[in-house]
Amino acid sequence: MKSDIHGFSKLHRNEKIKIIKAFAKLEKKDVKTLKKESALEFKTAEKMIENVVSSYQFPYGIATNFRINRKDYLIPMVLEEPSVVAAASHAAKLCRPGGFTASSDEPIMIGQIQLTEIKNISAAKRAVLRNKAEIKKMANNRDSVLCKLGGGIKDVEAREIDTKKGKMLIVHIIVDVRDAMGANCINTMSEAITPFLEEKTGGKAVLRIISNLADRRLARASCTWKKSILGDDVIDGIISAYEFAKNDVYRCATNNKGIMNGIDAVAIATGNDFRALEAGAHAYAAKSGKYQPLVRYEKNKNGDLIGSIELPIAVGLVGGATRTHPLAQISLKILGVKTAQELAQIMACVGLANNFAALRAMVKEGIQKGHMKLHAKNIAIIAGADKNYIDKVEERMVKDGNVSVGNAVKILKELKWIERKKKIKRFEKRFKRKVKRKKK
Ligand code: MEV
Repeated sequence: MKSDIHGFSKLHRNEKIKIIKAFAKLEKKDVKTLKKESALEFKTAEKMIENVVSSYQFPYGIATNFRINRKDYLIPMVLEEPSVVAAASHAAKLCRPGGFTASSDEPIMIGQIQLTEIKNISAAKRAVLRNKAEIKKMANNRDSVLCKLGGGIKDVEAREIDTKKGKMLIVHIIVDVRDAMGANCINTMSEAITPFLEEKTGGKAVLRIISNLADRRLARASCTWKKSILGDDVIDGIISAYEFAKNDVYRCATNNKGIMNGIDAVAIATGNDFRALEAGAHAYAAKSGKYQPLVRYEKNKNGDLIGSIELPIAVGLVGGATRTHPLAQISLKILGVKTAQELAQIMACVGLANNFAALRAMVKEGIQKGHMKLHAKNIAIIAGADKNYIDKVEERMVKDGNVSVGNAVKILKELKWIERKKKIKRFEKRFKRKVKRKKK
């Protein structure tokens, strides 16, 4: 069967599912699963993206213990990976009562307009800067609501780049997007001013799009973990692990992945664009030309561990899935955030917490011990354990040091056999008692 299905998008959901069923030889129970409703109802989901046939659920967990700028938070996190929520909560617990200190820049985003085929780049650059006022007026006209809220275009910059296709003029619009992530407004403004830029520079525009390297919208957080709680060895281990990441790109990628475990999970819980965050974070980590860890560690004069993070966090409270996804709305309520800047601060703290927790676990006992317990539960379920057996199978696998589906199946068989034998014994006893009573 081919995948170029004419008119697929216009079909009713049931028709779409019928096609998928035939294409992939799905069973009846698969179709039933696809049709199950979630907190995100089908009628909402199908307005969010195209060709919707179902919605995909991830676990929604709550990280506890966070105290940020002297305020307590419960933090919703959505992800599939075991241990991340527990790790963040534990890291936050270990730094109480002080908690985290966080700050964030104004919500400033960048839009880029690529202008090519310009004869005199310097003159074109001057023309752009000379016409700043006109450009600003044109852009702001596109979003009067944003301007009323105190946002809008703040500046216009022009940069020259040298490429295989010749010199190009890259115009940046610098926009305060207030409580939005900003992509829509930036892209609209960028497109709106492009004809004017072409006219003034004599150039030909190619791209007009947001930059996800939101390096004017940085969030920062820091935290002190006391020597009396961690111990010298753990602190030295974490600082050594930090040096490893600073000087080895293979380690650094994994280190930063651990940071994004937490940040992405809060982004998803609040309906924010985690791919934009990922792109921004990794580009920022490489901004010096050398890919670096996003969290730094040092010791203070008492020998306590200070962790600090800085990275771009472009998130919003309005627009997109933040508004349409019912769970995103509830997440914002649980967080009690009033501004996008506050949300960015929380996310920076979660990233720092997850990095600290991962390093601490690896330095102390290796990551697998904690991971394995939760992983073992999943394996037990895969092996067919129901609620009466999941915990028992998990415990035995962890005790055996063998967490695998094969072992889970074997343990489950044994447990069920023991259970059956017990039942038979109970039955025999009851039977014997009955016979005895009858004889009397
Ligand atoms: C796993 O999701 C994340 C870690 O690999 C992060 C790290 O190694 O720092 C544990």
